Amino acid sequence: MFGRERIEIKTGAQVRAMRRAGLVVAEAHAAVLEALRPGATTADLDAVAAAVIAEAGATPSFLGYHGYPATLCVSVNDEIVHGIPGSRVLEPGDVVSVDCGAIVDGWHGDAAFTAVLPEADPADVALSETTEDAMWAAIAALATGERLGVVGEAVEGVVAEAPTTYGIVQEYVGHGIGTAMHQPPEVLNYRTRERGPRLRPGLCIAIEPMLTRGSRMTQVLEDDWTVVTVDGSRAAHWEHTVAIGPDGLWVLTAADGGAERLARHGVTVAPWDVD
Ligand code: MF3
Ligand code: CO
Repeated sequence: MFGRERIEIKTGAQVRAMRRAGLVVAEAHAAVLEALRPGATTADLDAVAAAVIAEAGATPSFLGYHGYPATLCVSVNDEIVHGIPGSRVLEPGDVVSVDCGAIVDGWHGDAAFTAVLPEADPADVALSETTEDAMWAAIAALATGERLGVVGEAVEGVVAEAPTTYGIVQEYVGHGIGTAMHQPPEVLNYRTRERGPRLRPGLCIAIEPMLTRGSRMTQVLEDDWTVVTVDGSRAAHWEHTVAIGPDGLWVLTAADGGAERLARHGVTVAPWDVD
């Protein structure tokens, strides 16, 4: 999609602006998680996120993007990504993926999480946990990797180690992020022969694996947005916006900058607070 187009390399000050956007997204996620329960509608969740973003003086990045009509994407069960919030009432055991983007002073943050509502099927919990583990392994791989291809290797590695078989979605990928939500480079969640662009300070990317409990094949619903699994299997989606700085990684959409989860991989977070 982006080929060999130019990658926007950020300064420390620009990454700090992105951190402010990232913290708004983290705050919106926390508020949505509080409101997530059987009986809530997906539109209720959208209203919660919209209020947090407005209160912070930020702008939702999805609203109006190619005509997208909401602040969040809320994708339930066999929906993988780009589910449109509406009157759907959440039920016990639903697998709910919440994706949110915010803009502060022109700089973007983008992140997603999946939650399984109570009366959860342990297999759905394992799906979400494996997807989250794959995301963190991919982020950790950026700390020592030379090229962006380490992301797909890490995701495939986590999936291969899992006791269950999962599909890795290929049609939707991570992306560069900065003055726009979607920029080059594309960030694939699977291995290819290309090793990808070199990892270097100032590169900011959204890492976002999507796994299914069945086939990886996807289709788009009549609404032209909602992406579902062809086989009806349930899916999970986790995403963070990550900056590579001169001294290491900074997970801009994680409240703790990624410290807790990256420590498990032996990676220390390095906020880019001095230029
Ligand atoms: N946040 C999604 C992504 O991770 C994109 C959302 S598409 C939109 O790339 F239309 F809803 F904005
Ligand atoms: Co994204």
